[in-house]
Amino acid sequence: MYSAFKTVHSYWAYLALAILIIASINALIGMSTKKDFGQRDLRISLFGLIFSHIQLLIGLILYFVSPWFAQWSALGMGGVMKDAQTRLYLVEHPFTNIIAIVLITMGWSMHKRQTEEGKKFSRIGIFYNLGLLLILSRIPWDAWL
Ligand code: HEM
Repeated sequence: MYSAFKTVHSYWAYLALAILIIASINALIGMSTKKDFGQRDLRISLFGLIFSHIQLLIGLILYFVSPWFAQWSALGMGGVMKDAQTRLYLVEHPFTNIIAIVLITMGWSMHKRQTEEGKKFSRIGIFYNLGLLLILSRIPWDAWL
């Protein structure tokens, strides 16, 4: 159960990050070229939203089945926070990513309420890029790559 979720979370991360990077860059290009927000832009942004939500769901399950979770009772709150690795896996990575996905979701819903084409790109552009930066800042790179 644990290793299946860990494997899926590891591989889905490539897809989720690739699509988020494409959607974020696409929105920045849209913002700077002032073109219309078309079907293709809608689809790319929607895929970014869906793939990151799936990653969040897999991550939430993984959190409770991972051996890292037992460190809460073994070390207590103080012990988890004192050790950089347990802090990364149990606090920083999950919470930063939840905030990042909330930002991405806000960008998506704000873009839907805009009537001006440029504002659609800017809502996606600002919120997806912020979310992406937060996600990239707290990936356990040495365990993953
Ligand atoms: C878009 C968001 C996310 C991305 C891109 C992401 C990516 C990753 C990556 C690349 C790893 C390392 C996997 C490996 O060692 O092979 C990882 C580990 C982990 N992630 Fe995420 N993650 C995300 C969101 C979350 C969330 C929201 C949670 C929990 C609420 C979570 C919980 C975990 C846990 C517990 C591990 C450690 C698994 C272990 O080694 O036992 N992740 N994540």
